[in-house]
Amino acid sequence: MAKRRLPPTRPPRPIRFDLGRLLPGQAEFWRVLETDEARYVAVVTGIRGGKTMIGARRALREATRRGGLGWIVAPTYTMANTPHRLFEDVLNQHPGMVADQRDHPYPYWRLATAKAPEIEVHTAEYPDRLRGPGLSWVWCDELAIADYEAWRILMGRVLDTGGVIFLTTTPKGRNWVYQEFIGNPSGRHKLITWKTEDNIYLPREEVQELKRRWGPGTVWERQELGGEFVAFEGLVFPEFDPTVHVAEPPKDAQWVEFQAGLDFGHNDPTALVILGKTKQGMWWIVHELYESRLSALEMVRDVAALCRQFHVQRIWADQSRPEFIKEFQRMGAPVLASRPCSPKSLGFPRISVLLKEGTLRVAPHCRNVITEFGLYSYKRKRGTDSVKPGDEVEDRFDHAMDALHYMLWSVAPGSFDSLDWTTADPDEQDRLRLLQLKYQRNPGEPLDRPRPRVVGRYVAD
Ligand SMILES: Nc1ncnc2c1ncn2[C@@H]1O[C@H](COP(=O)(O)OP(=O)(O)O)[C@@H](O)[C@H]1O
Ligand SMILES: [Mg+2]
Repeated sequence: MAKRRLPPTRPPRPIRFDLGRLLPGQAEFWRVLETDEARYVAVVTGIRGGKTMIGARRALREATRRGGLGWIVAPTYTMANTPHRLFEDVLNQHPGMVADQRDHPYPYWRLATAKAPEIEVHTAEYPDRLRGPGLSWVWCDELAIADYEAWRILMGRVLDTGGVIFLTTTPKGRNWVYQEFIGNPSGRHKLITWKTEDNIYLPREEVQELKRRWGPGTVWERQELGGEFVAFEGLVFPEFDPTVHVAEPPKDAQWVEFQAGLDFGHNDPTALVILGKTKQGMWWIVHELYESRLSALEMVRDVAALCRQFHVQRIWADQSRPEFIKEFQRMGAPVLASRPCSPKSLGFPRISVLLKEGTLRVAPHCRNVITEFGLYSYKRKRGTDSVKPGDEVEDRFDHAMDALHYMLWSVAPGSFDSLDWTTADPDEQDRLRLLQLKYQRNPGEPLDRPRPRVVGRYVAD
């Protein structure tokens, strides 16, 4: 097909790029494209890292340098607004540059520079619609959330023109962007990454505040602020999203009842999570206790004090530690053995469902609950990166999660009433039966740990 070339309506003018002070990563990105070092270039950073801004400038540079038709692509129509607006800002910095412009059916510009380049904005909702003749360059913003198919088709469109395709995006787990640029890159691929906090143009305190809220080192924080490709597949609760599930309970909440879950620890922390249920049917994690090395006495004292403070009516505790439970009961604390759950993962869907419905929320000061939601994961298969739900869970970052699980597993779904086994939801009974078959075990049966032998006054294992 003949190259589209329309006569410029204004005399071509040279353009000078005033890039101001670029961040080191932005400068590296500029250099890689300027020297044609790579054809597939990805800038992957934390949110507000400064990638769309540099992408927009580079789009104009590629347009004037290469001529022909270039595309700006975003995953959805609304998400296209950002690169559209930033590109327009860049154009406005060069008055008289636009020779022709339309907004329908998609934003379009023709520039008054020597090669009369054309630029269009498109979205990737329907990857098939991205097919067509060759493009001189493509800039994809935040495309990580789109299908790999979109990227594959776009790559094809710069193939015969010798064009470039560059991607500016926040990572989304180890999805196709990771596969493409880290898992299976070619000599033509180049990945540039940096963190949100490397953007010196952002107010530092705000970034630190966000980091605190999301929990430094949580998978979520590492992805959204660190720009890292984190392994999300292994997370037990991938639904947990701090922007949705972390919130202050409303001041006028009408509380129905408070109950708690308790996981005993010594070297590992003892974790208590207190949940309140509101009249509207929301579950709020309103408080946590998370302390290592508490003596039995301290544990009882602290737990009892918190329970008085929140009027907790029942505490569901690890049923494999009857001696602790007895101790609490002697002190008058309303501690009960949690309903047995084996394997543990049997109870996860309960929590997942609440997260998906958005009916389970965590108060922001419950740092350890939030952190564990972001880290609690399934065990990796030895020597591989593969994790599959249903496999064993890691016994790390599981203390507050266990406490939460004891509580939610012991009460009837959707209510604080302790579960009557015979009236459990039929679906759940089916699942239980299947799992019993699989694990050859009755969930009501005690753990198949040998009963302790009593030898004199000592208990031998
Ligand atoms: N080199 C720079 N000079 C001045 N401000 C910058 C620079 N790079 C980024 N910024 C500013 O940082 C903020 C985030 O940039 P943006 O490109 O929107 O981030 P992202 O697309 O990574 O979320 C914007 O306010 C932008 O103006
Ligand atoms: Mg952006």
